Amino acid sequence: MVLSRSAAVLVAAVTGCLAKTPAGFEPASNTDLIVEFSSIAALNGAVLPKEVTATQPRVGTTTRLTGTSYAVIMIDLDIPTNTSSTNTLLHWMQTGLTPATSPTMLNTTRGQNMVFLLQNTTQTSPAAPYIGPGPPARTPLSHRYTQILVDTSAVTKQATSALETAAETRLGFDAMTVLMQAGLAAKVVAGNSFNVTNPGPAQNTNGGGFTNSTTGSSGGKGATGTGSVSSPSASSTFVTGAGSVTGPSSGFVLALLGAGAVFLGL
Ligand SMILES: *[C@@H]1O[C@H](CO)[C@@H](O)[C@H](O)[C@H]1NC(C)=O
Ligand SMILES: *[C@@H]1O[C@H](CO)[C@@H](O)[C@H](O)[C@H]1NC(C)=O
Ligand SMILES: *[C@@H]1O[C@H](CO)[C@@H](O)[C@H](O)[C@H]1NC(C)=O
Ligand SMILES: *[C@@H]1O[C@H](CO)[C@@H](O)[C@H](O)[C@H]1NC(C)=O
Ligand SMILES: *[C@@H]1O[C@H](CO)[C@@H](O)[C@H](O)[C@H]1NC(C)=O
Repeated sequence: MVLSRSAAVLVAAVTGCLAKTPAGFEPASNTDLIVEFSSIAALNGAVLPKEVTATQPRVGTTTRLTGTSYAVIMIDLDIPTNTSSTNTLLHWMQTGLTPATSPTMLNTTRGQNMVFLLQNTTQTSPAAPYIGPGPPARTPLSHRYTQILVDTSAVTKQATSALETAAETRLGFDAMTVLMQAGLAAKVVAGNSFNVTNPGPAQNTNGGGFTNSTTGSSGGKGATGTGSVSSPSASSTFVTGAGSVTGPSSGFVLALLGAGAVFLGL
C-alpha cells in the first residue's frame, strides 16, 4: 500500500505538481513546500498513515529562500461539526524559522530531493505546538492537512504578535483573516497539503457528521475508535504543549479545554 501511494505521488511529480495548497484554499501557493516525516514524503495530497505524522515534520524548499525569518502554519480544513459545513483547526504554528544556506538530501518515498530545510536555529518556541493528525470516525473521514510558509523577514513586532495571538485559538483558524490582520497576506511563499484518513466506518453520523456523544455506545465508540490510538499522543501533546508554551496564556489553554474533547482526536 505504501508502494501504491508513492507510485501515485510519483505520477503527480511527473505531471509537474509537487506540492501546493488545495484547490479553493486561500491564501494559495503553487510553490512547493517540501514536507517530510521520517523519509515519508507528505506532498501534494498524498494520503499518509496517521502514525507517520505523529511528530512534527521537516519542511523545506527546493529553491533557496533569501529571507531571514519564516513561519510554518498547518491547518486541518476538514473538521466535522454538527452542521453540514466543516470547520478548521490550527495544528501547528512555528515562527522564527531560518532557511539553511546549503541543501540537504532527503531520501523519501518520492525519491531523493535536495532541499533547503527551514531550521529552528533561534530555538523559538512554537506559537502553537504541533498536534498530530487523528481524524475521528466521522464524516469527512479524510482530512486535508494544509501547510503554508509565510515570509516574516523584517516584519514589525506587531505582525509577529498578531500571528502569535491568533495561534491561541486553534478551532476555526482562518488563515486568510489571520494573515490579513497581521499584514502578511501577500507573504505566503510556499504551500502543501496531505491527507490522513480514518479507516471508518463513520460512526452514527447525523447530517454533517454529528456523533451522539451523550450515549456511551455511539459517542464512546467514536472516541475510542480513534482514541485508542490517538489519545496517548494527543494528550501528551496537550500536556507538553500547554506546559512548554509559556507565552500563550490562558486563551490558548481555555481554547484547548473548551474544544479539547472535540479536536484533540482530529
Ligand atoms: C454537537 O452537538 C452535541 C449535542 O448537542 C454537543 O454536545 C456537542 O458539543 C456539539 N459539538 C460541537 C462541535 O458543536
Ligand atoms: C533511499 O531509500 C531507499 C528505499 O528506502 C533505499 O533503498 C536507498 O538505499 C536509500 N538511499 C540512500 C542514499 O539513503
Ligand atoms: C524550536 O525550538 C523550540 C525550543 O527548543 C522547540 O520547542 C520547537 O519544537 C522547535 N521547533 C522546530 C520546528 O524544530
Ligand atoms: C482528502 O480529503 C478531502 C476532504 O475530505 C477529500 O475530498 C479528498 O478526496 C481526500 N483525498 C484523498 C486522496 O483521499
Ligand atoms: C443521543 O442519544 C440519546 C440516547 O440514545 C438520545 O436520548 C438523545 O436524544 C440523542 N441526542 C441526539 C442529539 O440525537
